[in-house]
Amino acid sequence: MTEKKATLKVDGKDLDLPIYTPTLGRDVIDVSKLVANGVFTFDPGFTSTASCESKITFIDGEVGKLLHRGYSIEELAGKSDYLEVCYTLLYGELPTAEQRDQFISTVKNHTMVHEQIRNFFNGFRRDAHPMAIMCGVVGALSAFYHDSLDINNPEHREITAYRLIAKMPTIAAMCYKYALGQPFMYPRNDLGYAENFLHMMFGNPCEESKISPTLAKAMDRIFILHADHEQNASTSTVRLAGSSGANPFACIAAGISALWGPAHGGANEAVLNMLDEIGSLDNIDTYIAKAKDKNDPFKLMGFGHRVYKNYDPRATVMRESCHDVLAELGVNDPQLELAMKLEEIALSDPYFKEKKLFPNVDFYSGIILKAIGIPTSMFTVIFALSRTVGWIAHWNEMISNPYKIGRPRQLYTGETEREFIPVNERK
Ligand code: CMC
Repeated sequence: MTEKKATLKVDGKDLDLPIYTPTLGRDVIDVSKLVANGVFTFDPGFTSTASCESKITFIDGEVGKLLHRGYSIEELAGKSDYLEVCYTLLYGELPTAEQRDQFISTVKNHTMVHEQIRNFFNGFRRDAHPMAIMCGVVGALSAFYHDSLDINNPEHREITAYRLIAKMPTIAAMCYKYALGQPFMYPRNDLGYAENFLHMMFGNPCEESKISPTLAKAMDRIFILHADHEQNASTSTVRLAGSSGANPFACIAAGISALWGPAHGGANEAVLNMLDEIGSLDNIDTYIAKAKDKNDPFKLMGFGHRVYKNYDPRATVMRESCHDVLAELGVNDPQLELAMKLEEIALSDPYFKEKKLFPNVDFYSGIILKAIGIPTSMFTVIFALSRTVGWIAHWNEMISNPYKIGRPRQLYTGETEREFIPVNERK
């Protein structure tokens, strides 16, 4: 498989480790035989570890490049649409016109959720965070599809992918409507994917929904820009959960949980909260100083990325989209002005330059979502909705190939073995 090798000296013994060369990106040293030689590797946060082989997405963080199945994110965002990107992520190729129509029609046939699912919502407080509801309801879908939970059956995996892609917008919109106390809206299959989502979010049963094509296009672009991002925390969580043989709905619920944190998908919500906290242009310097202070936990949300050490290409597209949307809507958002000034100051500051901290996708997505009328608490839900296809594509790729249960080792630094002391003798 490979001619290249690395030699590691362990306790005076030379170990030859194969090196694999990818189609794109850095070489990878196969360390799997170290365990048989009495040692483990240590890599907290997996900063140097390739956890799997994958053909889905490639990121070159040094130059700010993102490819899905070989197609650049800029081209996909400019020339394609979300459901076509979903097809490409799942099947590896752009669909023909016929495959595209078939795919869209099949997804549309699965947009409704079982009526019993509505009852789950009543168990939540009206002020519950919609991500909390999402985790519960998506996990509960496994209780509804006993007929298609055989993970070793490719047809079952395919129908699950369709169901998840189709039902996530319905569930996401139900979370919003529940908080408002408004009736849930049934999906409309005559509408496009993003249009239908906006209809379920903002429509009501008393009148015909009027969906702006500009907003639907902006929403679709947000979905595309979040569709996949290789082995990030939530996708790795989905793979790890799936490696035990758990059903896909449970795995996606695990992914939603991992996404929720502010260091990952929760960052879009955190950006707007941060802009609120900064409040005005006059306070930017104070907050930049806080972000640089090692003793202050404050970080500039929407800045920095584990992989990108250059401008996040999704942020570039999102930034353009942001200006287009605000111009179309005639919105003059002081938060956008604040965000742009913050970006300008941070990018010229030596701290951010040296650490290669650039705005990431979430820096601008919140401003667009706010302009569309989406409340802040729904931002991460929209990320989860968009990323579901990425999670399911990675889960399916893993299950379709030989895989092992994910089970990392540790560097144990706790107590050595000691004798148990009965409670009356403890000091
Ligand atoms: N503001 C200030 N300093 C920062 C920031 C920031 N946003 N991000 C990183 N740093 C500093 C960090 O303190 C560290 O400094 P030092 O080397 O002196 O210890 C250095 O930059 C490297 O950072 P790190 O924390 O080691 O980097 P990481 O790869 O572990 O973390 C990150 C990446 C995204 C979690 C982090 O940059 C962060 O918390 N950013 C803010 C949250 C955010 O916007 N997350 C969304 C990521 S994009 C959406 C997604 O795909 O999930």
